[in-house]
Amino acid sequence: MTAIKYSASFSAVEHLAAIATTKSDFTKLGLSREELGYLKGQIQKDEHFVTINQYKRTVIVYIAEKKDERFLAIEALRRAGNKVCGVFNGIKAGSVTIVDLAGNAEDTIAFAEGMALGNYQFLSHRTQDTKKVKHSLATINIQSRKVDRAQIQRLQIIVDATLKARDLVNEPVNYLNAVQIAAEFQKMGREAGFKVDVLNKTKIESLKMGGLLAVNRGSMDPPTFTIMEWKPGNAKNKKPYILVGKGVVYDTGGVSLKPTANSMDSMKCDMAGAAAVGCTMYAIARAKLPVHVISLVPATDNRPGMNAYVPGDIITMHNGMTVEMLNADAEGRMILADALSYAQKYNPELAIELSTLTGAAAAAIGKYGIVAMGTADKKMNDTLTDSGNNVFERIAQFPFWDEYADLLKSDIADLKNIGGSVAGAITAGKFLQKFTKYPYIHLDIAGPAFIDSAYDYKPKGGTGVGVRLLFDFFSHVM
Ligand code: BES
Ligand code: MG
Ligand code: ZN
Repeated sequence: MTAIKYSASFSAVEHLAAIATTKSDFTKLGLSREELGYLKGQIQKDEHFVTINQYKRTVIVYIAEKKDERFLAIEALRRAGNKVCGVFNGIKAGSVTIVDLAGNAEDTIAFAEGMALGNYQFLSHRTQDTKKVKHSLATINIQSRKVDRAQIQRLQIIVDATLKARDLVNEPVNYLNAVQIAAEFQKMGREAGFKVDVLNKTKIESLKMGGLLAVNRGSMDPPTFTIMEWKPGNAKNKKPYILVGKGVVYDTGGVSLKPTANSMDSMKCDMAGAAAVGCTMYAIARAKLPVHVISLVPATDNRPGMNAYVPGDIITMHNGMTVEMLNADAEGRMILADALSYAQKYNPELAIELSTLTGAAAAAIGKYGIVAMGTADKKMNDTLTDSGNNVFERIAQFPFWDEYADLLKSDIADLKNIGGSVAGAITAGKFLQKFTKYPYIHLDIAGPAFIDSAYDYKPKGGTGVGVRLLFDFFSHVM
């Protein structure tokens, strides 16, 4: 992982990435008169990236772009940081110093964030040519009179947590089953200082979590239910915030085997919600945010094993409601419903649930944002929407009208687990709402959780979506 460090000064032999405005004083960079002239000429031509290759080092000057909205300018800085990261890896630089010539802490942090997130690689299963492909960049120094050590520490935590979530998502099920993901959470809890309880199958049976057990019936591996808690003495909230993450460590579709060609290829990502909430716990505990948060992760794989649940089965859920199961591929809502019903005992201020729940959500808005719906008040929704813009994991609010719930009516049980041919993302949310009696936000991350090709500072594969969003939310809520 990339180390991000505070730097009081810089020398004339270091690789530099300078963030500047057109009016900045460039004389500090140690450039020759000729190089300075070239730089000024390029800036006059409206160039935003100017690269000066010296014998021993490379200096890149980035002139921040003007945007209509502040958060768009911040995102442009992250993207620029990623681009510069690529250039320095290309010349095998081991460390780079970001020099803040503009005197802007927020801009500098955003640029460093883009660099560090873009530097991510998932190499743990490579045995050949690892050295050749491994990025050289290991350290990012930040030299700015406006950025302090605490801000850099906070950025390091956010980056570490996001990259940890990417690692978990990229890890295939033969290395990360339900028991193993729970063990990962325990390890993170020990490291960051939050409490982790893992309920095993016997305990899950005694709690009558019928949805989780039903999905697990087709699997060889037992399910787990992980409870994580961060409760600092200075917590500002009386009632806890609850996070719930979908932990389907692999989704074959069960006996309703995924029908579309290649649609199973990325289904190791079906625990991205679980990764997001676990890594959010890791981040808020390490940063010691003054907020009481409890996270719940029901985990299992979804497979068509010998004893798998089949369409037509009626399942009694944790809250006693019955569900007529009509599609084994609508498994996420079965396990999440039990977790949401279990959350009731904490009398939550608000529950936010994250899941790679529906292809419909991904089809509607793609990788560009998170589909949101729920019953929370305007203040909570606005705070989350602002956080979405701040970290550029944008929130798209979907309608949540009562009529959509009509599509879930069953003739012989309280509910069926699929809706009709329309509004698949919303009927999934409506299904889950039936298991909540508290303010609730459902975030469908099926679009942005896992990408087929690199997109800005998100390399191909798991993106870690949700971690930066929730960390920002808990930094601002209240
Ligand atoms: N895990 C999938 C949803 C998904 C699709 C996540 C694409 C990421 C990318 C979920 O369990 C699922 O299979 N949903 C079904 C629901 C349907 C059977 C009602 C879907 O969206 O097709
Ligand atoms: Mg499914
Ligand atoms: Zn799924």
